[in-house]
Amino acid sequence: MGVKGDVLDAGVGTGRNFIHYPKDSKVTGIDLTPAMLARARWRKEQLGINVDLYEMNVMEMDFPDDSFDAVVSTFLFCVLDDEHQLPALEEIRRVCRPDGEIHILEYSISKSPWRRFIMKLWAPWVRFAYGAEFDRNTEQYFDAAGLELVEAKYLHKDIIKLLVARPLPND
Ligand SMILES: C[S@@+](CC[C@H](N)C(=O)[O-])C[C@H]1O[C@@H](n2cnc3c(N)ncnc32)[C@H](O)[C@@H]1O
Repeated sequence: MGVKGDVLDAGVGTGRNFIHYPKDSKVTGIDLTPAMLARARWRKEQLGINVDLYEMNVMEMDFPDDSFDAVVSTFLFCVLDDEHQLPALEEIRRVCRPDGEIHILEYSISKSPWRRFIMKLWAPWVRFAYGAEFDRNTEQYFDAAGLELVEAKYLHKDIIKLLVARPLPND
Protein backbone atom coordinates (compact mmCIF):
# COMPACT_ATOMS: atom_id res chain seq x y z
CA MET A 1 0.00 0.00 0.00
CA GLY A 2 1.62 3.28 -1.07
CA VAL A 3 1.04 5.19 2.14
CA LYS A 4 3.50 6.47 4.73
CA GLY A 5 3.85 8.47 7.93
CA ASP A 6 0.82 8.91 10.17
CA VAL A 7 -1.85 6.67 8.65
CA LEU A 8 -5.52 6.48 9.60
CA ASP A 9 -7.41 3.28 8.73
CA ALA A 10 -11.05 4.43 8.81
CA GLY A 11 -13.46 1.52 9.36
CA VAL A 12 -10.54 -0.70 10.32
CA GLY A 13 -12.76 -3.76 10.85
CA THR A 14 -10.76 -6.77 11.96
CA GLY A 15 -7.47 -5.18 10.88
CA ARG A 16 -7.04 -7.05 7.61
CA ASN A 17 -4.98 -4.15 6.24
CA PHE A 18 -2.35 -4.21 9.02
CA ILE A 19 0.06 -6.44 7.10
CA HIS A 20 0.12 -3.98 4.18
CA TYR A 21 1.33 -0.93 6.09
CA PRO A 22 5.03 0.00 6.00
CA LYS A 23 6.79 -0.91 9.27
CA ASP A 24 7.90 2.68 9.87
CA SER A 25 4.39 4.13 9.55
CA LYS A 26 2.32 5.03 12.60
CA VAL A 27 -1.09 3.47 12.14
CA THR A 28 -4.32 4.49 13.87
CA GLY A 29 -7.52 2.52 13.29
CA ILE A 30 -11.08 3.55 14.06
CA ASP A 31 -14.29 1.60 13.85
CA LEU A 32 -17.87 2.02 15.08
CA THR A 33 -18.28 -1.63 16.09
CA PRO A 34 -16.67 -2.84 19.34
CA ALA A 35 -16.69 -6.49 18.17
CA MET A 36 -14.66 -5.57 15.09
CA LEU A 37 -12.21 -3.59 17.20
CA ALA A 38 -11.81 -6.58 19.54
CA ARG A 39 -10.77 -8.70 16.55
CA ALA A 40 -8.45 -5.96 15.32
CA ARG A 41 -6.81 -5.89 18.78
CA TRP A 42 -6.36 -9.64 18.65
CA ARG A 43 -4.74 -9.37 15.21
CA LYS A 44 -2.51 -6.56 16.40
CA GLU A 45 -1.28 -8.77 19.29
CA GLN A 46 -0.73 -11.71 16.96
CA LEU A 47 1.32 -9.61 14.55
CA GLY A 48 3.16 -7.85 17.38
CA ILE A 49 2.63 -4.46 15.78
CA ASN A 50 1.89 -1.06 17.20
CA VAL A 51 -1.50 0.24 16.09
CA ASP A 52 -3.71 2.65 18.05
CA LEU A 53 -7.35 1.57 17.93
CA TYR A 54 -10.36 3.66 18.86
CA GLU A 55 -14.12 3.26 18.80
CA MET A 56 -15.20 6.22 16.69
CA ASN A 57 -17.66 7.25 14.01
CA VAL A 58 -15.94 8.24 10.76
CA MET A 59 -18.40 11.11 10.44
CA GLU A 60 -17.39 12.58 13.79
CA MET A 61 -13.79 11.83 14.64
CA ASP A 62 -12.01 13.09 17.75
CA PHE A 63 -8.80 13.96 15.89
CA PRO A 64 -7.63 17.53 15.29
CA ASP A 65 -7.55 18.91 11.74
CA ASP A 66 -4.59 17.80 9.59
CA SER A 67 -3.66 14.83 11.82
CA PHE A 68 -2.70 12.26 9.18
CA ASP A 69 -0.40 11.94 6.17
CA ALA A 70 -2.72 9.31 4.69
CA VAL A 71 -6.22 8.02 5.26
CA VAL A 72 -7.08 4.52 4.09
CA SER A 73 -10.60 3.17 3.91
CA THR A 74 -11.35 -0.26 2.53
CA PHE A 75 -14.95 -1.33 2.03
CA LEU A 76 -16.26 1.27 4.45
CA PHE A 77 -18.16 3.43 1.98
CA CYS A 78 -20.14 0.46 0.65
CA VAL A 79 -21.75 0.12 4.10
CA LEU A 80 -22.41 3.85 4.57
CA ASP A 81 -25.84 5.06 3.42
CA ASP A 82 -25.90 7.45 0.49
CA GLU A 83 -26.60 10.44 2.76
CA HIS A 84 -23.53 9.57 4.87
CA GLN A 85 -21.05 9.43 1.98
CA LEU A 86 -20.42 13.18 1.84
CA PRO A 87 -20.18 13.79 5.63
CA ALA A 88 -17.73 10.88 5.91
CA LEU A 89 -15.57 12.21 3.07
CA GLU A 90 -15.63 15.73 4.54
CA GLU A 91 -14.49 14.40 7.89
CA ILE A 92 -11.72 12.35 6.29
CA ARG A 93 -10.60 15.43 4.38
CA ARG A 94 -10.56 17.44 7.63
CA VAL A 95 -8.17 15.05 9.41
CA CYS A 96 -5.94 14.57 6.34
CA ARG A 97 -3.00 16.97 5.97
CA PRO A 98 -3.15 19.32 2.94
CA ASP A 99 -0.33 17.36 1.26
CA GLY A 100 -1.75 13.99 2.35
CA GLU A 101 -3.43 11.23 0.37
CA ILE A 102 -6.70 9.39 0.76
CA HIS A 103 -6.94 5.81 -0.50
CA ILE A 104 -10.39 4.30 -0.82
CA LEU A 105 -10.97 0.72 -1.92
CA GLU A 106 -14.52 -0.05 -2.97
CA TYR A 107 -16.77 -2.25 -5.04
CA SER A 108 -18.21 -1.16 -8.34
CA ILE A 109 -20.79 -2.89 -10.46
CA SER A 110 -19.10 -4.72 -13.32
CA LYS A 111 -19.84 -3.74 -16.91
CA SER A 112 -19.42 -7.32 -18.09
CA PRO A 113 -22.95 -8.70 -18.57
CA TRP A 114 -22.24 -11.99 -16.80
CA ARG A 115 -20.43 -10.48 -13.78
CA ARG A 116 -23.05 -7.75 -13.60
CA PHE A 117 -25.80 -10.36 -13.56
CA ILE A 118 -24.12 -12.26 -10.70
CA MET A 119 -23.56 -9.06 -8.70
CA LYS A 120 -27.19 -7.98 -9.15
CA LEU A 121 -28.23 -11.46 -8.01
CA TRP A 122 -26.12 -11.13 -4.84
CA ALA A 123 -26.99 -7.50 -4.14
CA PRO A 124 -30.18 -8.08 -2.09
CA TRP A 125 -28.44 -10.60 0.17
CA VAL A 126 -25.39 -8.34 0.65
CA ARG A 127 -27.78 -5.48 1.43
CA PHE A 128 -29.70 -7.60 3.93
CA ALA A 129 -26.67 -9.21 5.61
CA TYR A 130 -24.22 -6.27 5.68
CA GLY A 131 -26.19 -3.17 4.72
CA ALA A 132 -23.72 -2.91 1.84
CA GLU A 133 -24.16 -1.84 -1.76
CA PHE A 134 -21.86 -2.57 -4.69
CA ASP A 135 -22.56 0.72 -6.46
CA ARG A 136 -22.13 3.64 -4.06
CA ASN A 137 -20.03 5.56 -6.61
CA THR A 138 -18.32 7.35 -3.75
CA GLU A 139 -16.20 9.44 -6.13
CA GLN A 140 -19.31 11.38 -7.18
CA TYR A 141 -19.08 13.21 -3.82
CA PHE A 142 -15.36 14.10 -4.08
CA ASP A 143 -15.86 17.61 -5.50
CA ALA A 144 -18.41 18.52 -2.84
CA ALA A 145 -16.11 17.17 -0.13
CA GLY A 146 -13.18 19.27 -1.40
CA LEU A 147 -11.23 16.32 -2.76
CA GLU A 148 -9.42 15.89 -6.05
CA LEU A 149 -9.42 12.44 -7.62
CA VAL A 150 -5.81 11.76 -8.61
CA GLU A 151 -6.07 8.09 -9.53
CA ALA A 152 -8.75 5.48 -10.10
CA LYS A 153 -7.83 1.94 -11.04
CA TYR A 154 -9.31 -1.52 -10.82
CA LEU A 155 -7.45 -4.00 -8.64
CA HIS A 156 -9.69 -6.97 -9.40
CA LYS A 157 -11.58 -7.29 -12.72
CA ASP A 158 -13.81 -4.21 -12.92
CA ILE A 159 -15.27 -4.99 -9.51
CA ILE A 160 -12.81 -3.69 -6.91
CA LYS A 161 -11.62 -0.17 -7.46
CA LEU A 162 -8.92 1.92 -5.78
CA LEU A 163 -9.60 5.64 -5.61
CA VAL A 164 -6.75 7.95 -4.62
CA ALA A 165 -7.68 11.50 -3.69
CA ARG A 166 -5.99 14.63 -2.33
CA PRO A 167 -7.51 17.51 -0.38
CA LEU A 168 -8.15 20.52 -2.62
CA PRO A 169 -6.70 23.75 -1.20
CA ASN A 170 -9.14 25.83 0.85
CA ASP A 171 -10.39 28.96 -0.96
C1 LIG B 1 -17.12 -4.18 5.33
S1 LIG B 1 -16.28 -3.79 6.80
C2 LIG B 1 -14.63 -3.48 6.18
C3 LIG B 1 -13.59 -3.63 7.26
C4 LIG B 1 -12.12 -3.47 6.81
N1 LIG B 1 -11.85 -2.12 6.37
C5 LIG B 1 -11.76 -4.46 5.75
O1 LIG B 1 -11.48 -4.08 4.61
O2 LIG B 1 -11.74 -5.66 6.06
C6 LIG B 1 -16.87 -2.17 7.17
C7 LIG B 1 -16.43 -1.67 8.54
O3 LIG B 1 -16.85 -0.32 8.70
C8 LIG B 1 -17.30 -0.14 10.02
N2 LIG B 1 -18.20 1.03 10.05
C9 LIG B 1 -19.46 1.11 9.57
N3 LIG B 1 -19.95 2.34 9.75
C10 LIG B 1 -18.95 3.06 10.34
C11 LIG B 1 -18.86 4.41 10.79
N4 LIG B 1 -19.87 5.26 10.64
N5 LIG B 1 -17.71 4.81 11.37
C12 LIG B 1 -16.66 3.93 11.50
N6 LIG B 1 -16.71 2.65 11.11
C13 LIG B 1 -17.84 2.22 10.54
C14 LIG B 1 -17.98 -1.45 10.36
O4 LIG B 1 -18.09 -1.64 11.75
C15 LIG B 1 -17.03 -2.45 9.71
O5 LIG B 1 -16.02 -2.86 10.58
